[in-house]
Amino acid sequence: MAMNFLNPVTTQTWTNGRHLVRCVKTIQETADVRTFCFMAEQPLLYFFKPGQFVTLELDIGGEQIMRSYTISSSPSIPYSFSITVKRMPGGKVSNWLHDSLKEGDELAVHGPVGNFNIMDFPADKLLFLSGGVGITPLMSMTRWLFDTNASVDVEFIHSARAPRDVIYHRELIHMFSRLPEFKLHVICENKDDIGETWAGYRGYLTQPMLELMAPDYLEREIFCCGPAPYMNAIKHILRNNGFDMSHYHEELFGATPLEVREEVLELAEQAEAAAEEIDYAEMLSIEFAGSGKSVRIQPDETIHAAAAKLGLHIPKACGMGICGTCRVGIKSGEVEMDHNGGITDDDIEAGYILSCCSRPKGNVVVDF
Ligand SMILES: Cc1cc2nc3c(=O)[nH]c(=O)nc-3n(C[C@H](O)[C@H](O)[C@H](O)COP(=O)(O)OP(=O)(O)OC[C@H]3O[C@@H](n4cnc5c(N)ncnc54)[C@H](O)[C@@H]3O)c2cc1C
Ligand code: FES
Repeated sequence: MAMNFLNPVTTQTWTNGRHLVRCVKTIQETADVRTFCFMAEQPLLYFFKPGQFVTLELDIGGEQIMRSYTISSSPSIPYSFSITVKRMPGGKVSNWLHDSLKEGDELAVHGPVGNFNIMDFPADKLLFLSGGVGITPLMSMTRWLFDTNASVDVEFIHSARAPRDVIYHRELIHMFSRLPEFKLHVICENKDDIGETWAGYRGYLTQPMLELMAPDYLEREIFCCGPAPYMNAIKHILRNNGFDMSHYHEELFGATPLEVREEVLELAEQAEAAAEEIDYAEMLSIEFAGSGKSVRIQPDETIHAAAAKLGLHIPKACGMGICGTCRVGIKSGEVEMDHNGGITDDDIEAGYILSCCSRPKGNVVVDF
């Protein structure tokens, strides 16, 4: 008779959805970066794919507000999870988290979701590239690979402003000192106000630097996360050197203020130009069943934009089809949805869409 020495895990695990969690610990990582650790009331296993994120649902001054944050911990330590947040100058949520979220506070999170994860793209040679707080998904991946004794070769190149801004520096040094196939390279941008001595690379990541640090970079599966100009520079190097971009994966946390401003100006210019050539015959009717209101929009406008025109507030966080915050049901009509993994096939089957990235294909009635 076959003996079975395995017990099934009976502890519950979370799945993509809304979860109440309690902040159990906060850790000041650098001057403007703090980690927040969360657990459930009852033991719960937080499994997820390293690199995925959650969306926090917060009440700030009576206003419900959502923001997405990568899970920086690893599912190899599954009874809790953490996020690591950088204060954004003038930012509503990041500053509120730093100033007001304390141990013992309860809040709701949505997720985990995200295509930018290590499990969906297995490879035995990896290159992790991060800038600033963009290190969070790569840290989760590194912690996972380290804890699970994965047999992979990792080159990790992180760019920070100055030595004192290197997030998780001591933990990275510890992990990378124990495995010969894990190599860490830290670049500090700041030459003047360094604060600590720094014998390593300085400035911005350039092609010669990349070639020195990871000479075989063209053979690696690449995961990149950082500010948009940083990621654009990397993509430029890769494309110029004939890298097969199907092995390049990136996560953008959102537009930096300057880009936001440029985007707003661009949108205003586009709107002005478009206003002159609106084809009224092409406009489509979007009705919101909950309020009975409707509006006519161009086919290239989103359902979320249509709601905003009517003053209807569909919650929105990432604005790029990854976090699932703006999900609504469709009562009739069809949309073209250009999402990035923030919705499951089951939800699509059940008639849900992500309003931030869905454009009408005809008249639509939305269940909102
Ligand atoms: C998938 C994903 C994962 C993420 N993971 C992380 C993470 O691990 N860690 C992390 O710190 N962040 C992460 N982010 C970013 C995070 O969601 C927030 O965007 C960030 O914390 C800033 O939010 P905020 O509310 O503080 O700033 P906001 O109030 O949203 O403002 C952001 C910045 O833009 C400026 N700004 C806002 N609107 C305008 C405008 N119209 N014109 C000009 N400037 C403007 C503000 O002054 C501020 O500097 C992630 C984002 C995504 C989408
Ligand atoms: S706001 Fe994140 S998917 Fe639409």
